[in-house]
Amino acid sequence: MFSFFSKDQTTGEVAEHQLDEANIPAHIAIIMDGNGRWAQQRHLPRIAGHKQGMNTVKTVAKAASHLGVKVLTLYAFSTENWKRPNAEVNYLMKLPVDFFGTFVPDLIKNNIRVKVMGYTDQLPAATQKAVADAIADTRHCTGMVLNFALNYGGRAELVTAVQHVAQQVQSGQLDPAEIDETMLDRQLMTADLGELRDPDLLIRTSGEKRLSNFMLWQVAYSEFVFMQEHWPDFDQTALETAIYEYQQRHRRYGGLTPDTEK
Ligand code: IPE
Ligand code: IPE
Ligand code: MG
Repeated sequence: MFSFFSKDQTTGEVAEHQLDEANIPAHIAIIMDGNGRWAQQRHLPRIAGHKQGMNTVKTVAKAASHLGVKVLTLYAFSTENWKRPNAEVNYLMKLPVDFFGTFVPDLIKNNIRVKVMGYTDQLPAATQKAVADAIADTRHCTGMVLNFALNYGGRAELVTAVQHVAQQVQSGQLDPAEIDETMLDRQLMTADLGELRDPDLLIRTSGEKRLSNFMLWQVAYSEFVFMQEHWPDFDQTALETAIYEYQQRHRRYGGLTPDTEK
């Protein structure tokens, strides 16, 4: 057990809580939302929000790693975000270059390994290189996996998985009757996370309550926590508050918890 202080989102009251170290969610996934609104509230261009959001990623990655989280998946760019103005897309594509360019030594110091899921072959060459270098430079790290969803979409991921399975059927390697959940899991972009592939806790910031095409298959039994803070304002306390909320839930997976089994 260890304590932390949280601020009530409606009353502003500060309260002390105890986090159970034995029940830290192994895989946390975050939809980092609200960068643009954070900037607009300050009369700054939207990209100022993305820049500040990058600093939040650094803070939250270290905090999650210290708390004992095994996988932290961050939704950084969706397959639909290409619809935004070119200047914003270009800025978002440059962010990984800045981010990894400055943060990789810190990641290594914290034993954090970088992974990326998404259609990275469609990213600009410089972005692809920054990502590939970060993966290579942290390959030896054995602590938390920091998994960026970059040009990722849940529906596209499922379409790609179905195409692979269909090819195996067409070539006669696979009987459709053999297709099961384990086989589909192996075709998804989370396959190499093994047992940790499905998020235990899904957080979305900025008050929006939707998935926006994020990990549609993998969140089947995740606990959802929606937070009011815009992503640039999210910090260690906000993360601990979300984990505390998670620890108050009873995960049943369609069955019964011991106290309701009577
Ligand atoms: C999240 O912040 C970052 C990305 C989607 C890349 P937004 O840019 O969506 O910020 P809002 O939602 O417009 O405030
Ligand atoms: C989801 O946020 C994508 C990321 C956080 C990268 P969006 O801001 O793109 O989602 P919508 O458009 O509000 O649903
Ligand atoms: Mg948004």
